[in-house]
Amino acid sequence: MAQEKVLIVEDEENERTGLAELIRAWGYDTETACDGVEGMLTLEAWNPGIVVTDLRMPRMDGMQLLEQIAAQPQPVAVILLTAQGSVDAAVTAMKRGAFDFIEKPVNPARLRNILQNASRLRGTERELEASRRKLRDIGVMGAMVGPSRRMQEVFRLIEMVAPSTAAVLITGESGTGKELVARTIHSLSNRKAKPFVAINCAAIPETLIESEIFGHEKGAFTGALERRIGCFELAEGGTLLLDEIGEMPIGTQAKLLRVLEDRKLRRLGSKSETAVDVRVLAATNKTPEEAVAKGQLRNDLYYRLNVFNIHLPPLREHKEDLTELAQALLSEMNEKHGRNVAGVSDQVSGAFNSYAWPGNVRELRNTLERAVIVCDGAVIEIKHLPPGFGQIIPRAPVQEANAVRLGVGTTVDEAERLLILKTLEATNNNKTRAAEILGISLKTLHNKLKEYGGQGANEADAAAS
Ligand SMILES: Nc1ncnc2c1ncn2[C@@H]1O[C@H](COP(=O)(O)OP(=O)(O)OP(=O)(O)O)[C@@H](O)[C@H]1O
Ligand SMILES: [Mg+2]
Repeated sequence: MAQEKVLIVEDEENERTGLAELIRAWGYDTETACDGVEGMLTLEAWNPGIVVTDLRMPRMDGMQLLEQIAAQPQPVAVILLTAQGSVDAAVTAMKRGAFDFIEKPVNPARLRNILQNASRLRGTERELEASRRKLRDIGVMGAMVGPSRRMQEVFRLIEMVAPSTAAVLITGESGTGKELVARTIHSLSNRKAKPFVAINCAAIPETLIESEIFGHEKGAFTGALERRIGCFELAEGGTLLLDEIGEMPIGTQAKLLRVLEDRKLRRLGSKSETAVDVRVLAATNKTPEEAVAKGQLRNDLYYRLNVFNIHLPPLREHKEDLTELAQALLSEMNEKHGRNVAGVSDQVSGAFNSYAWPGNVRELRNTLERAVIVCDGAVIEIKHLPPGFGQIIPRAPVQEANAVRLGVGTTVDEAERLLILKTLEATNNNKTRAAEILGISLKTLHNKLKEYGGQGANEADAAAS
């Protein structure tokens, strides 16, 4: 195996060369730098696995160097040299992600020991990295499966953003895997040992949401019998997913924005603020720009969260993944229900391929879970799928009075025409509103109506009667 590379950053020349000689004698490859600035440059060019750095140095000190190293993607074990008895510095260093610290004057036996531990950790990290790469090659990332080009692009984004502390806005239809992406980002970040907390803004009554997020003091409001820690504080040091962010009340969004900017929060009813170190991820199945336009999502919050956007394609747009997804979900279900189903029949595979999957991966998962439970053989057959599977393509529920009924045999053009006319009817012929609902421009709407000619106007009237 190649020698472990150790970079020594120390402004005092004698100490620097002394340390380098010592460490080299123990079988490590060494380089030196005289301060943090030079240290960072060497780090980038030489790529060491371990950095031993002095604390007090001109230009950039050891603590700043540690912070810069922690902010970059590849893992490096940083060992800080501290002055004797400087407990504070040692504690701060460990909090900021140092591997270990050692007091000056350096005890060689202790340093050697720390280096051995660091080197062992780096070895394990490299092995993990290698197996992660192998899995990536066959289309797996953590618990996520997706060898298709579309999903590989998603994986690339996750890998890129995971090590940073950037906010990420995860978008995509219901059931496409937004929460799974959030968990994967957390598990690939150096916050992975700290909590991952998810809160669904759509599932909490408006009156409780602020207390859920920010916490409250005893007596903050009627019914606040005890102090309560909010999910921001529960996620301290880790990651918080704000799910269905478009459902969060506007007032709460303003408070949230302040917490994100100040990294401090005030529990409801509290006089003082608490510092928080939480990485925030947000998810929505709405189009965020539309939510902003409709006043459901604050513009400034949207910009703050959308530092990085990961969009998940609907399953119907990456059906190439169906085989691998089904196989992975089958293993999960076999384990969950103590079964041993090997796969799906060709017929089922065909049915899966021609189905539109409006509920995306969650629907696939549910379909397979049901099938595994009812399956009595080694392979899932059509008879194990829900009755009539694939024959009825469920649509978003619409109010009956406002519904457009379409029989099989309707052409796409005809369907479009009926939908436009029905929407106009529902808006009392308000074209601006109708275009908004239809998600088309006013100009397109006018053109369509012109296309339908006088006939269109008549039918709109007829439909209204
Ligand atoms: N690429 C994938 N590989 C394996 N499992 C997946 C994948 N995508 C989603 N799943 C599974 O599908 C289910 C739904 O995923 P998830 O809850 O993350 O979706 P969501 O986008 O958050 O949905 P909603 O908008 O309804 O909250 C979960 O059981 C998840 O583990
Ligand atoms: Mg979700």
